Amino acid sequence: MSFPWPLVLCFVLGVGALGSNVSSEASAYRNHVGVAGSIRSAMLASIRTSWEQGTAAAGILEFDDEEYSVFGPSPFTPNWKFPMSTLQLALSAVVRQTPDGRLSQNIGDALDGAALDGASAGSVVLMGSFTDSSRRSYWLTAADAELNYILNVAPRTSTGAISHRADSRQYWADGVYMGFPFIAYYGAVMHNSSLLQLAYDQCRLYRDALLLDGPTGKLWGHIYDDNGTWVDEGIWGSGNAWAALGMLRVAVTIQKTDFASEMAPQVANLTSWVREILDGEFAALTPSDLVPDYITGGPSFGDASASAALASVAYRVATLYPEQFGANYTRTAARIRNAVLGGVTNLGTLSPVVNPLVWNETGLLSTEAQAFGLMMLSAWKDWIGI
Ligand SMILES: *[C@@H]1O[C@H](CO)[C@@H](O)[C@H](O)[C@H]1NC(C)=O
Ligand SMILES: *[C@@H]1O[C@H](CO)[C@@H](O)[C@H](O)[C@H]1NC(C)=O
Ligand SMILES: *[C@@H]1O[C@H](CO)[C@@H](O)[C@H](O)[C@H]1NC(C)=O
Ligand SMILES: *[C@@H]1O[C@H](CO)[C@@H](O)[C@H](O)[C@H]1NC(C)=O
Ligand SMILES: *[C@@H]1O[C@H](CO)[C@@H](O)[C@H](O)[C@H]1NC(C)=O
Ligand SMILES: *[C@@H]1O[C@H](CO)[C@@H](O)[C@H](O)[C@H]1NC(C)=O
Repeated sequence: MSFPWPLVLCFVLGVGALGSNVSSEASAYRNHVGVAGSIRSAMLASIRTSWEQGTAAAGILEFDDEEYSVFGPSPFTPNWKFPMSTLQLALSAVVRQTPDGRLSQNIGDALDGAALDGASAGSVVLMGSFTDSSRRSYWLTAADAELNYILNVAPRTSTGAISHRADSRQYWADGVYMGFPFIAYYGAVMHNSSLLQLAYDQCRLYRDALLLDGPTGKLWGHIYDDNGTWVDEGIWGSGNAWAALGMLRVAVTIQKTDFASEMAPQVANLTSWVREILDGEFAALTPSDLVPDYITGGPSFGDASASAALASVAYRVATLYPEQFGANYTRTAARIRNAVLGGVTNLGTLSPVVNPLVWNETGLLSTEAQAFGLMMLSAWKDWIGI
């Protein structure tokens, strides 16, 4: 047999871009399987707030149940696998749903003022409706209540954007991840193109409100009140990471539906806005190969949390849109990945990370950072093609 089967396999598996590095990248990945387990268990060990519950579930979805993540080949239909780890997190989100529909909200005094954070668990809850046939209506009822809250109860800004807060009209970059991927996912599962369009429009309105001219390019400020005041005008690494993670998920979700060709211009805008964030944030890398906590308006210590999130985005876009995102994105992602994995402590925690509640300080444990670590590892693995 003289036919070059290995070469054919390379093309079939789409590993051409990696060339002869596949096996070295694959072994580098395998060397980190133990660290990945520690990152995962530290995340699951943490006490979580609403947005952390949804983000943790998304990290587990990509790591344990990747068939059902929007990055999988056919995420909106049941297959042979029962996604138990993800549904375990979804169950807790529903058990802690408040009567107004917000998931994961009923903790402590249940006075969390966020309008969009609960929706971060919305997609995995809706996934239960087609993967767990014995509880189909349980999951669907919970997802419907969450959708109803963000569409019909949460306040809107003067442009029609859904406020990130329940008691005021504010744009937070975080909201782009919390709310809009769920709206798109609901649209994809229910074949409802107006919801796909709404998810896109919300991303667009948030970008219009928060985009600033930063020292390394156009990037997003953190929080703007619809009354014309910046609450946090800083270019915050995690805020930009949330926006990029959210827009990427909305883009990929639209692309996996029957509406992909008619909505190609929306997808193209979303990916160009993701690129804008990667370019601006990666140009600001610290000497330790991490993105800074703040580029303007706050301290510039290297933050492994936002860094892991943005490295995951770079690996995903390089896999999905290789003609738009060349090797410079994955080269930078590899530097960041090494820095992030090199900083993992003996308790499995990413370090240094921004305190998720005090954005200008480092913290000891960030659940979102742990989830971003899992997303980075999953995206790296998919890019290698193993
Ligand atoms: C292969 O990997 C090495 C080390 O990670 C890197 O320096 C090199 O640029 C990679 N080559 C290609 C073609 O990606
Ligand atoms: C799509 O979803 C929206 C919001 O729930 C709903 O008002 C509309 O009727 C749905 N459209 C279709 C075609 O089902
Ligand atoms: C605008 O909103 C900010 C933040 O919520 C608040 O501090 C400020 O008092 C408000 N200003 C006006 C004029 O309402
Ligand atoms: C894409 O973005 C451009 C520039 O912001 C805008 O003019 C255009 O209308 C957008 N396309 C769609 C489909 O929204
Ligand atoms: C990658 O290269 C392109 C084209 O040279 C450039 O516009 C972009 O800023 C680079 N991005 C990163 C993250 O290095
Ligand atoms: C963080 O911000 C708060 C409130 O703006 C401020 O009081 C505090 O001094 C800042 N801390 C650091 C380390 O910059």
